[in-house]
Amino acid sequence: MADNAPIGVFDSGVGGLSVLREIRTRLPNESLLYLADSGHVPYGEKSPEFIRDRCRSIVSFLLEQGAKALVVACNTATAAGIADLRLLYPDLPLVGMEPAVKPAALATRSGVVGVLATTGTLKSAKFAALLDRFASDVRVITQPCPGLVERIEAGELDTPGTRSLLAGFVQPLIEQGCDTVILGCTHYPFVKPLLREMLPASVALVDTGAAVARHLESVLATHHRLADGLSSSRFWSSGDPRRLSAVLPVLWGENGTVSYCSV
Ligand code: DGL
Repeated sequence: MADNAPIGVFDSGVGGLSVLREIRTRLPNESLLYLADSGHVPYGEKSPEFIRDRCRSIVSFLLEQGAKALVVACNTATAAGIADLRLLYPDLPLVGMEPAVKPAALATRSGVVGVLATTGTLKSAKFAALLDRFASDVRVITQPCPGLVERIEAGELDTPGTRSLLAGFVQPLIEQGCDTVILGCTHYPFVKPLLREMLPASVALVDTGAAVARHLESVLATHHRLADGLSSSRFWSSGDPRRLSAVLPVLWGENGTVSYCSV
Protein backbone atom coordinates (compact mmCIF):
# COMPACT_ATOMS: atom_id res chain seq x y z
CA MET A 1 0.00 0.00 0.00
CA ALA A 2 1.49 3.36 -1.02
CA ASP A 3 0.89 6.85 0.36
CA ASN A 4 1.72 9.65 -2.05
CA ALA A 5 1.04 12.50 0.38
CA PRO A 6 4.09 14.75 0.85
CA ILE A 7 6.70 14.79 3.61
CA GLY A 8 7.08 18.06 5.52
CA VAL A 9 10.64 19.19 6.23
CA PHE A 10 11.74 22.35 8.06
CA ASP A 11 14.71 24.25 9.40
CA SER A 12 15.44 27.73 10.71
CA GLY A 13 16.50 28.62 7.17
CA VAL A 14 18.33 27.03 4.26
CA GLY A 15 20.32 24.49 6.30
CA GLY A 16 17.67 21.79 6.03
CA LEU A 17 18.14 21.79 2.26
CA SER A 18 21.29 19.73 2.92
CA VAL A 19 18.98 17.09 4.43
CA LEU A 20 16.28 17.55 1.78
CA ARG A 21 18.86 16.68 -0.89
CA GLU A 22 19.66 13.42 0.86
CA ILE A 23 15.95 12.61 1.15
CA ARG A 24 15.44 13.25 -2.56
CA THR A 25 18.38 10.98 -3.41
CA ARG A 26 17.23 8.18 -1.13
CA LEU A 27 13.48 8.50 -1.74
CA PRO A 28 12.96 9.89 -5.26
CA ASN A 29 9.23 9.03 -5.29
CA GLU A 30 8.46 11.17 -2.26
CA SER A 31 6.89 14.61 -2.68
CA LEU A 32 8.46 17.20 -0.41
CA LEU A 33 7.27 20.33 1.37
CA TYR A 34 10.08 22.52 2.72
CA LEU A 35 9.66 25.42 5.10
CA ALA A 36 12.56 27.76 5.85
CA ASP A 37 11.82 29.76 8.99
CA SER A 38 13.97 32.57 7.63
CA GLY A 39 11.89 35.20 9.43
CA HIS A 40 13.35 33.83 12.69
CA VAL A 41 16.80 32.57 11.72
CA PRO A 42 19.17 31.90 13.45
CA TYR A 43 17.79 29.53 16.09
CA GLY A 44 21.23 28.83 17.54
CA GLU A 45 21.27 31.61 20.15
CA LYS A 46 17.52 31.66 20.92
CA SER A 47 15.79 30.16 23.96
CA PRO A 48 14.49 26.57 23.88
CA GLU A 49 10.98 27.92 24.66
CA PHE A 50 11.03 30.20 21.62
CA ILE A 51 12.20 27.38 19.35
CA ARG A 52 9.60 24.99 20.77
CA ASP A 53 6.87 27.49 19.84
CA ARG A 54 8.31 27.87 16.35
CA CYS A 55 8.26 24.06 15.94
CA ARG A 56 4.61 23.90 16.98
CA SER A 57 3.51 26.61 14.53
CA ILE A 58 5.53 25.22 11.64
CA VAL A 59 4.42 21.62 12.13
CA SER A 60 0.80 22.69 12.32
CA PHE A 61 1.24 24.61 9.03
CA LEU A 62 2.89 21.65 7.27
CA LEU A 63 0.16 19.30 8.47
CA GLU A 64 -2.44 21.71 7.06
CA GLN A 65 -0.63 21.35 3.73
CA GLY A 66 -1.22 17.60 3.90
CA ALA A 67 2.13 16.29 5.22
CA LYS A 68 2.02 12.58 6.09
CA ALA A 69 5.33 12.71 7.99
CA LEU A 70 7.65 15.37 9.38
CA VAL A 71 11.42 15.81 9.38
CA VAL A 72 12.92 18.36 11.77
CA ALA A 73 15.95 19.09 9.58
CA CYS A 74 17.65 21.13 12.27
CA ASN A 75 19.74 19.92 15.20
CA THR A 76 18.88 22.96 17.32
CA ALA A 77 15.13 22.58 16.80
CA THR A 78 15.31 18.84 17.45
CA ALA A 79 17.12 19.42 20.75
CA ALA A 80 14.58 22.04 21.85
CA GLY A 81 11.34 20.83 20.33
CA ILE A 82 11.06 17.23 19.22
CA ALA A 83 9.99 15.79 22.58
CA ASP A 84 7.15 18.30 22.70
CA LEU A 85 6.14 17.48 19.11
CA ARG A 86 6.08 13.76 19.90
CA LEU A 87 3.70 14.44 22.80
CA LEU A 88 1.47 16.62 20.64
CA TYR A 89 1.42 14.23 17.67
CA PRO A 90 1.94 10.71 19.02
CA ASP A 91 0.81 9.04 15.78
CA LEU A 92 2.77 11.20 13.35
CA PRO A 93 5.88 9.70 11.73
CA LEU A 94 8.46 12.22 12.99
CA VAL A 95 12.20 12.21 12.40
CA GLY A 96 14.71 14.58 13.98
CA MET A 97 18.46 15.16 13.82
CA GLU A 98 21.27 14.97 16.31
CA PRO A 99 25.04 15.35 15.98
CA ALA A 100 26.59 12.06 14.83
CA VAL A 101 28.39 11.35 18.12
CA LYS A 102 27.99 7.58 17.99
CA PRO A 103 29.56 7.01 14.53
CA ALA A 104 32.30 9.56 15.28
CA ALA A 105 33.19 7.87 18.59
CA LEU A 106 33.41 4.54 16.78
CA ALA A 107 35.53 5.97 13.95
CA THR A 108 38.12 8.05 15.82
CA ARG A 109 41.63 6.65 16.10
CA SER A 110 43.15 9.58 17.98
CA GLY A 111 40.35 9.38 20.56
CA VAL A 112 39.60 13.09 20.07
CA VAL A 113 36.40 14.13 18.33
CA GLY A 114 35.38 17.70 17.46
CA VAL A 115 31.78 18.90 17.27
CA LEU A 116 30.83 22.03 15.34
CA ALA A 117 27.26 23.02 16.24
CA THR A 118 25.12 25.89 17.45
CA THR A 119 25.27 27.14 21.02
CA GLY A 120 21.70 25.88 21.54
CA THR A 121 22.54 22.33 20.46
CA LEU A 122 25.72 22.17 22.54
CA LYS A 123 23.97 23.51 25.66
CA SER A 124 20.99 21.16 25.36
CA ALA A 125 20.17 18.30 27.73
CA LYS A 126 19.70 16.10 24.67
CA PHE A 127 23.32 16.66 23.60
CA ALA A 128 24.60 16.00 27.15
CA ALA A 129 22.68 12.71 27.14
CA LEU A 130 24.15 11.82 23.74
CA LEU A 131 27.69 12.32 25.08
CA ASP A 132 26.94 10.28 28.20
CA ARG A 133 25.59 7.47 26.11
CA PHE A 134 28.12 7.22 23.30
CA ALA A 135 31.23 9.24 24.07
CA SER A 136 32.41 8.10 27.47
CA ASP A 137 35.59 6.62 25.97
CA VAL A 138 36.61 9.58 23.80
CA ARG A 139 37.50 13.22 24.36
CA VAL A 140 34.95 15.54 22.78
CA ILE A 141 35.89 19.11 21.91
CA THR A 142 32.76 21.20 21.34
CA GLN A 143 32.92 24.35 19.25
CA PRO A 144 29.95 26.71 18.88
CA CYS A 145 29.98 28.68 15.63
CA PRO A 146 28.11 31.98 16.19
CA GLY A 147 27.73 34.00 13.00
CA LEU A 148 28.31 31.11 10.59
CA VAL A 149 24.63 30.34 9.93
CA GLU A 150 23.99 34.00 9.05
CA ARG A 151 26.77 33.89 6.45
CA ILE A 152 25.46 30.69 4.91
CA GLU A 153 21.95 32.20 4.83
CA ALA A 154 23.42 35.16 2.95
CA GLY A 155 24.89 32.78 0.36
CA GLU A 156 28.46 33.56 1.49
CA LEU A 157 29.71 30.00 1.16
CA ASP A 158 33.24 31.01 0.24
CA THR A 159 34.02 34.64 1.00
CA PRO A 160 37.01 36.04 2.91
CA GLY A 161 34.72 36.77 5.88
CA THR A 162 33.37 33.20 6.00
CA ARG A 163 36.89 31.80 5.63
CA SER A 164 38.29 33.76 8.54
CA LEU A 165 35.28 33.03 10.77
CA LEU A 166 35.50 29.31 10.03
CA ALA A 167 39.28 29.22 10.46
CA GLY A 168 38.82 30.55 14.01
CA PHE A 169 36.37 27.72 14.81
CA VAL A 170 38.50 24.99 13.24
CA GLN A 171 41.87 25.96 14.71
CA PRO A 172 41.19 24.73 18.28
CA LEU A 173 40.01 21.38 16.90
CA ILE A 174 43.26 20.94 14.96
CA GLU A 175 45.36 22.02 17.93
CA GLN A 176 43.69 19.47 20.20
CA GLY A 177 44.27 16.56 17.84
CA CYS A 178 40.74 15.84 16.55
CA ASP A 179 40.79 13.28 13.74
CA THR A 180 37.00 13.26 13.37
CA VAL A 181 34.83 16.37 13.14
CA ILE A 182 31.06 16.22 13.44
CA LEU A 183 28.99 18.74 11.49
CA GLY A 184 26.29 19.19 14.11
CA CYS A 185 24.23 21.78 12.25
CA THR A 186 22.47 21.23 8.95
CA HIS A 187 23.82 24.49 7.54
CA TYR A 188 27.44 23.38 7.82
CA PRO A 189 27.55 20.79 4.99
CA PHE A 190 27.34 23.79 2.67
CA VAL A 191 30.82 24.90 3.81
CA LYS A 192 32.28 21.39 3.60
CA PRO A 193 34.62 22.36 0.73
CA LEU A 194 36.10 25.13 2.91
CA LEU A 195 36.40 22.80 5.90
CA ARG A 196 38.15 20.22 3.72
CA GLU A 197 40.70 22.86 2.74
CA MET A 198 41.26 23.97 6.33
CA LEU A 199 41.52 20.58 8.01
CA PRO A 200 44.32 18.05 7.48
CA ALA A 201 43.35 15.37 4.93
CA SER A 202 43.46 12.75 7.68
CA VAL A 203 40.53 14.38 9.51
CA ALA A 204 37.14 12.81 8.71
CA LEU A 205 34.02 14.97 8.47
CA VAL A 206 30.82 13.35 9.67
CA ASP A 207 27.33 14.63 9.00
CA THR A 208 23.91 13.15 9.45
CA GLY A 209 21.86 13.95 6.34
CA ALA A 210 22.18 10.54 4.68
CA ALA A 211 21.49 8.69 7.94
CA VAL A 212 18.35 10.78 8.47
CA ALA A 213 17.11 9.92 4.97
CA ARG A 214 17.71 6.21 5.68
CA HIS A 215 15.91 6.46 9.01
CA LEU A 216 13.00 8.28 7.38
CA GLU A 217 12.72 5.49 4.82
CA SER A 218 12.50 2.86 7.54
CA VAL A 219 9.95 4.90 9.56
CA LEU A 220 7.75 5.32 6.46
CA ALA A 221 8.09 1.64 5.61
CA THR A 222 7.05 0.66 9.13
CA HIS A 223 3.95 2.86 8.83
CA HIS A 224 3.27 1.53 5.28
CA ARG A 225 3.46 5.09 3.98
CA LEU A 226 6.19 5.04 1.32
CA ALA A 227 5.19 6.73 -1.94
CA ASP A 228 5.25 5.17 -5.39
CA GLY A 229 4.12 8.12 -7.48
CA LEU A 230 5.62 11.03 -9.36
CA SER A 231 7.23 13.40 -6.89
CA SER A 232 7.11 17.19 -6.60
CA SER A 233 8.51 19.78 -4.22
CA ARG A 234 7.15 23.02 -2.77
CA PHE A 235 8.93 25.64 -0.72
CA TRP A 236 7.85 28.27 1.81
CA SER A 237 9.76 30.95 3.64
CA SER A 238 8.66 32.96 6.67
CA GLY A 239 11.18 35.59 5.52
CA ASP A 240 11.69 37.01 2.05
CA PRO A 241 10.76 34.24 -0.43
CA ARG A 242 12.95 35.87 -3.09
CA ARG A 243 16.04 35.15 -1.00
CA LEU A 244 15.21 31.45 -0.78
CA SER A 245 14.39 31.37 -4.50
CA ALA A 246 17.76 32.91 -5.29
CA VAL A 247 19.78 30.29 -3.40
CA LEU A 248 17.76 27.21 -4.43
CA PRO A 249 19.72 26.53 -7.65
CA VAL A 250 22.96 26.34 -5.61
CA LEU A 251 21.77 24.70 -2.38
CA TRP A 252 19.00 22.48 -3.74
CA GLY A 253 20.36 22.01 -7.24
CA GLU A 254 17.34 23.33 -9.15
CA ASN A 255 14.82 26.15 -9.21
CA GLY A 256 11.66 25.91 -7.17
CA THR A 257 8.53 27.91 -6.46
CA VAL A 258 8.78 29.65 -3.09
CA SER A 259 5.76 31.14 -1.33
CA TYR A 260 5.69 33.40 1.69
CA CYS A 261 4.02 32.06 4.82
CA SER A 262 3.40 33.94 8.02
CA VAL A 263 3.71 31.03 10.46
N1 DGL B 1 20.39 24.43 10.89
C1 DGL B 1 20.21 24.44 12.28
C2 DGL B 1 20.83 23.27 12.99
O1 DGL B 1 20.95 22.19 12.42
C3 DGL B 1 20.21 25.70 13.08
C4 DGL B 1 20.91 26.90 12.62
C5 DGL B 1 20.49 28.15 13.34
O2 DGL B 1 19.42 28.65 12.99
O3 DGL B 1 21.19 28.61 14.25
O4 DGL B 1 21.17 23.34 14.14
